[in-house]
Order: sequence, then structure tokens, then C-alpha cells
Amino acid sequence: MATLRLGDDAPDFTAETTEGTVNFHEWKGDSWAVLFSHPKDFTPVCTTELGRVAALKDEWDKRNVKVIGISVDTSESHEGWAQDIKDVTGATLNFPLISDSEKKVADLYDMIQPNASDTTTVRSVFVIGPDNKLKLSLTYPASTGRNFDEILRVIDSLQLTANYKVATPVDWKDGEDVIIVPAVSDEEAKEKFPKGWDAKKPYLRVTPQPNK
Ligand code: BEZ
Repeated sequence: MATLRLGDDAPDFTAETTEGTVNFHEWKGDSWAVLFSHPKDFTPVCTTELGRVAALKDEWDKRNVKVIGISVDTSESHEGWAQDIKDVTGATLNFPLISDSEKKVADLYDMIQPNASDTTTVRSVFVIGPDNKLKLSLTYPASTGRNFDEILRVIDSLQLTANYKVATPVDWKDGEDVIIVPAVSDEEAKEKFPKGWDAKKPYLRVTPQPNK
């Protein structure tokens, strides 16, 4: 599989998970999805990450996002590890974990990067839109746990910019001012952004978040 790029179709697959057999596109439906890999069960950083993703359930639900994890471990291993995740983080696994011991999904999504490790997946994150297109990809090494607040923040930006002709500035958080995209003329902006804008430069027009 060639490297997946933004805007590409997210490949479909059928896989065994802790919640039974999942056909990815069918399971996802027209929701948003986060598909994320971890290197190995029963490892310290992964234990903290999976607990955090489970604890964020209300945040995923609020945004209509389904989450699904993956590693090359077996379902039995995932199920055994779930108790450790609960012991350490207090969170019960509440999303499917794919067991990809044949590395089919890992290969499809280029999650095994041999110069990092021949045998385990890196920490990939794919955010996939309701149209099944890839909206964001991130790749972290095994040694660095991810920041899932940042992933939620990006999803807020992706969902906003899918519906309004705006972009979000550096370090933006939901509720803060946004930028009117340069392709929108001032004339069109008057109609689309009735709250007005502050033109810091002719190409940098800042307006209140339109859906707040
Ligand atoms: C971890 O999750 O702690 C981990 C996994 C693989 C390599 C290094 C750390």
C-alpha cells in the first residue's frame, strides 16, 4: 500500500476485535472515526494511552466520533490487558481493539515502519471523516505517548472548517476566534460573517467562531 495521504479514501478491512468481527466501513457508518495503533499490549505507555482514550468517551460521543485501537497482539492478549488498564487508570475499555496478528490492517495503513520496529506498529493516528476520507494522520514513536486533548482539538477544527469557510489559527481551541479563508471576498464575508471581522492584514481577517 502506498502511503495514505490526506483526502485519500480510508481503506476498508474486516478484522477480529475485542467486540467481535468488525467491518471497518460498516462499523463506522457516517460517523467520524479515529483509528489508532499502539506498539504492544502490557507495555507502560500504551496502558496509560488506552485508559485515557476510554476515559474520553463522552468527548468522542459529543463529536460523533467512533474510536478503534489496533496492535498486532491477539484478542486474548487484549482482553487480559484490559484488566491492567482498569487497575492503573480506572477506565474500562469501551471501544474495540483490533487484533492484527497477521498485520493485514497494519500493512494497509503503513503502521509498521521497519526502521522504527520490524515487528510492532508505531503510534499512528488516523482521523477519518463521515465521507470515509482521511482528514488527519499523525505518527509518534513508541517512546512518546500521544496527547489526546490535541486530537480532540484537531477534530473540533476539522468539524468546524468542514461546515464554514474558516480556518483555525495557531493553538486555537473551540470557542475562540477563527480566520476567514482568503478565498472569501470581503463582499461574501459580509453575508457569511454578520458578526464582522478584524482585518489584521487584508489576508488575515479574524471573526468570532460562527457556530457559537
Ligand atoms: C510502551 O507502551 O511503554 C512502549 C511500547 C513499546 C516500546 C516502548 C514503550
